[in-house]
Amino acid sequence: MLIITAKDYDEMSQKAARYIAAEILLKPDCLLGLATGSTPIGTYQELIRIHQQEGLSFQKVRTVNLDEYYGLPASHEQSYRYFMQETLFDHIDICPDNTHVPDGLTKDPQSYGKEYDELIVALGGIDLLLLGIGSNGHIAFNEPGSYFTAQTRLVDLNPNTIEDNSRFFESKDDVPRQAISMGMKSILDSKRIVILASGAGKAQAIKDMLEGPVDPMLPASILQLHSNVTLIADKAALALVQPD
Ligand code: PGA
Repeated sequence: MLIITAKDYDEMSQKAARYIAAEILLKPDCLLGLATGSTPIGTYQELIRIHQQEGLSFQKVRTVNLDEYYGLPASHEQSYRYFMQETLFDHIDICPDNTHVPDGLTKDPQSYGKEYDELIVALGGIDLLLLGIGSNGHIAFNEPGSYFTAQTRLVDLNPNTIEDNSRFFESKDDVPRQAISMGMKSILDSKRIVILASGAGKAQAIKDMLEGPVDPMLPASILQLHSNVTLIADKAALALVQPD
C-alpha cells in the first residue's frame, strides 16, 4: 500500500482532490466510487474549487456511492444522497443521471443490493474508489465481522458507529440502526482505491489496517490484499504506525 503523508486535514484533502482530478483528466468518463462522512468534505470542497477555478469538468463522470442509511428518504438532511448533493453534486457540472446513491427506502434490500452490484459491473467497474475508515476499522458500513465476500446488502450498524455518527443527529436515538452498504466484493473489485484518514481518532484503526493481520474484525485490513491502494493520511492518523 502506498502511503502519502499530509501535515494536516487540509493538505490531505488537497492531495486527495488532485488524485481524483488526475483520474478525471485521464479518463473523463471514469466511474468514481464516493464516500460520505466528515473525512471527504475537504476533498469535495477542493474538487469544487478545481472545477470552478481550473475548469475541471465532471460532465462525463459517473459515480456510485458506498452507502445510505436505511429508512431515510433522499430529502432527509442526514441522508447520504442529500449530503452528496449539498457537498459536491450541486456545485459541479455532473449529470444527475450519472450519480448513484443506494436507495434507503428500498422495500426489497436483498434484490436491490444485487441490482446495485450489477449496476457497478454494467458501468464498467469502479475506476477509483474513495474510502474513509471508521474508528472501528469499518469501510463503507461493512462493520467488524463482515464477510470479505459480502455483496451490497442491508447491514446492522455497530454500536460504535452509531455513537460516532450521533454527532450528526439531534440524539443517538435518531441515528438509523441499519444501512444499505456496498459489499466488500465490489470494494475489492475496484481498480484503484484511495483511503483517507485524518486525526488521532483514526490512528489505531490505521495502525491495525497496515500492521495487523488480515481479519474480518478489522474490515479495512482486507485492503492489504488489494494491488492498488493509496492511503492519504495526516500525521495524527499515522501517529501509531511504525516507520519503515
Ligand atoms: P468519518 O467517517 O469520515 O465521519 O470519520 C468515516 C467512516 O465511518 O467511514
